Amino acid sequence: MTLQAVEKQFSMLKDKEIIVGITGGIAAYKTADLVRQLTKKGANVHVVMTKNAMEFVTPLTFQTISGNPVIHKMFELFAGSKIGHITLSDIADQLVIVPATANMIGKVANGIADDFLSTMVMATTVPVFFVPSMNTKMWSSKMVQANIEKLKDAGYEFMEPASGDLACGTEGKGRLPAIEEILERMEDIFTSKDLTEETVLVTAGPTMEFIDPVRCITNRSSGKMGYAVAKMAKRRGADVTLITGPATIEFPRNDIDIVHVTTACQMRDAVMEHYKKAGVVIMTAAVADFRCREENCQKIKKKGDSNYMTLELEKNPDIIGELGKVKEQRIIVGFAAETENLLDNAKEKLKKKNLDIIVANDVAKAGIGFGSDNNEVMIIEKSGKAKQVPLLSKEEIANIILDSVKKALKNKKRIKEDWY
Ligand code: PMT
Repeated sequence: MTLQAVEKQFSMLKDKEIIVGITGGIAAYKTADLVRQLTKKGANVHVVMTKNAMEFVTPLTFQTISGNPVIHKMFELFAGSKIGHITLSDIADQLVIVPATANMIGKVANGIADDFLSTMVMATTVPVFFVPSMNTKMWSSKMVQANIEKLKDAGYEFMEPASGDLACGTEGKGRLPAIEEILERMEDIFTSKDLTEETVLVTAGPTMEFIDPVRCITNRSSGKMGYAVAKMAKRRGADVTLITGPATIEFPRNDIDIVHVTTACQMRDAVMEHYKKAGVVIMTAAVADFRCREENCQKIKKKGDSNYMTLELEKNPDIIGELGKVKEQRIIVGFAAETENLLDNAKEKLKKKNLDIIVANDVAKAGIGFGSDNNEVMIIEKSGKAKQVPLLSKEEIANIILDSVKKALKNKKRIKEDWY
C-alpha cells in the first residue's frame, strides 16, 4: 500500500456525499481549498452557491475542483426532471455552509426558504454545519447571536469564527477558521461517541534540555503520534488534556486543554498535576532521559586546542515509572521506541513500569515513527497478548490503541465488579 493510499484510507469523509453551501462573504474564496481537501479525502462534493456568493467567486472554480456541476439557480431540475434541492438533500450525508453569512443564518433561523440553499437546509434531515464568517460587530449583534442559539437548540452544528485581521480593515472575531479545523469538525460529526465517559491525558512531542542558551538536547519527535491520539480520543467524545513538548505541528481543535512544556522536568510536573482526574494516561512523548548537570547561562565557548568536550549529564525523572507506582484504577499506556529486540524490550518496559498496554515502535524502520504521518506498531497487553498493527496513518493507529484501551477499561471494570 502506498503512503498516499494510507492517508486516504482512514478519513470518515471517504465516500461520503457532502454538500458545500457557499454564501456571500469575502471568505468564500477559502472554500475552494475546503472543497479540494474534501475531494482529496475521498468525499463526493456538491457545491451550492447563493446569488451573493457569485459576487465573490465563480461556479466554474468549484465545478472544476469538485468535478460536479455547481447549483446556483432555485428552479433547476436535476438529471433532467428531478427537483434539485430534494434530490441533493436525499443523497447527502452532511451539509456544510462555508462561509455562513448573518443573512443565511437569519433566514434559516426564521424558516425562510427563498433560494436553493436555504430551501435545501429546510428539506434535509442530515447534519447541517454552519461555519460563520463576518464582521465582528455583525457577529456580536444580538440578532445574530439569538438566531445562532435558536439554530443550535434545533440541533444545527456551529463553529465559532476565529479572531484576527478582518477583510473590512478591523480586527476581532469573525474570520473563517482554518480549513483543517473545519475538516476536523466535519470528521467529528461522523464519528460515534464511545468514549464520552472517559478522561484521557496524553503526552506528546519531544522534550528539550538546554546545554546553554543556544544549544539543546532533543530528539526527532514531531508530536504527530500524540496529537493523533488526543484528536481521536476527543472525536470519540473523551475529555482530553494534552501535555506537549515543543512539537512542530499545530493541534487542529480548540476544545481540549493543551499544556505546553519544554523540559522533561516540566513534563513530569504537568503530568503529576493532571493525572489525578484522568482515567486513562497515554504517554507517546519522547522524553529525554538525561539533562545537563550544570546550567550554563552564557553560550559555551571553544576552549584551547582540544577536539573534545565533555558534558556531564544527570538522569531525568522517569515520568511513566513514577505514574505506574500511583496508578490505582487508571489505564496507563506507554510507548516503546526501539531500534532492536522490539518485542522483548517493550515487554520489559510494560512489566517494569506497571503499565496496562505498551505500543512498541520500531524507530529504525524507514517511513514510520519519528516525524512520519504513518506508523506501524505492535500493541502489547498486560496479559502478554500482542497485536501487530500494519502500516497505517497515525490517526488510524490512534483509534486502534483507543480500542485496546476500551477493552482494558472494560476488563478492569469487570474485575472490580467481581470483587463486590
Ligand atoms: O512524535 P512523532 O514524530 O509522531 O513520533 C512518534 C514517536 C516515535 C515519538 C512515538 O511513536 C514513540 O515511540 N514514543 C515513545 C518515545 C520514547 O521515549 O520511548 P522510550 O522507550 O524511551 O520510553 C518509554 C515510555 O516511557 C514512553 O511512553 C515515554 O513517554 C516514557 N518516558 C520515557 C523517558 C522518561 N524519562 N520518562 C517517561 O515517561
